[in-house]
Amino acid sequence: MVTIDLSGHTGLVVGVADKHSIAWGIAQILSEAGMRLALTYQNERLERNVRELASTLPDPLVLPLDVTDDRQIDAVFEAIGNQFGRLDCLIHAVAFAPREDLMKDYVETSRDGYRIALDVSAYSLAALARGARPLMKESGGGSIVTLTYYGSEKVVAGYNVMGVAKAALEASVRYLANDLGPDNIRVNAISAGPMKTLAARGIPGFMNMLKYHEEKAPLRRRVDMRELAGTALFLCSPLGSGITGEVIHVDCGYNILGL
Ligand SMILES: NC(=O)c1ccc[n+]([C@@H]2O[C@H](COP(=O)([O-])OP(=O)(O)OC[C@H]3O[C@@H](n4cnc5c(N)ncnc54)[C@H](O)[C@@H]3O)[C@@H](O)[C@H]2O)c1
Repeated sequence: MVTIDLSGHTGLVVGVADKHSIAWGIAQILSEAGMRLALTYQNERLERNVRELASTLPDPLVLPLDVTDDRQIDAVFEAIGNQFGRLDCLIHAVAFAPREDLMKDYVETSRDGYRIALDVSAYSLAALARGARPLMKESGGGSIVTLTYYGSEKVVAGYNVMGVAKAALEASVRYLANDLGPDNIRVNAISAGPMKTLAARGIPGFMNMLKYHEEKAPLRRRVDMRELAGTALFLCSPLGSGITGEVIHVDCGYNILGL
């Protein structure tokens, strides 16, 4: 029997807002596999939620992190270095675009809205990977997993500037995989089917996306949190050791459909 035992491993999970967050689903399964975790919260408004959730994990580290602030990024990796001394896994589950830009056709995206969407949702992966690299080298390698969506590949009504940000994120996965591969650091993305989360509710027409997905996906259902989390666990485990630079669809097969 193959079991995944990650005891002695450490992970940083960025993107927990509440109990519905994909990041929280992943944090739980990594913790069940024995990994010691650091969780971050974006701002004071979310701090209590994250601390409450983290208190259900053994010996967590909880830190503030706005991914647009390089000083906070440095502070997170310094704290992890001091507390853990190594890092095996980084989960990046962060995205944002200003609501007024998300509501517009892509052609109407403001310069500022574009900058913010790309900074938070795509550049942050490179910034965090750079911070994680020395600590992952201490571990003899590591696994970085980000979350993306099919709106990067095809036009999905309502996804707008976020689709362009996800395309940049997926290209970043490939470039980072090539940069960090010599240090045995793998970088992959999970392209998730729609999930009811805080961020998803900001996407115009999200409930229709959910319904359409359920009706049309080959498996005729929505993806489940444990399926996303299980894929992240696999990618962070030795079972995924030959996979890097990939975008793995966990979407009940939705992306294979034509008409
Ligand atoms: N929910 C879906 O249907 C779906 C589908 C595919 C991909 N995704 C992706 O999954 C990831 C996680 O989103 P989610 O659906 O779990 O929603 P969520 O709202 O629970 O998580 C989004 C997180 O991004 C964080 N964030 C935003 N701006 C930030 C900043 N400046 N600094 C630090 N953190 C910041 C928020 O605090 C929040 O924790 C996102 O990348 C999202 O695009 C979601």
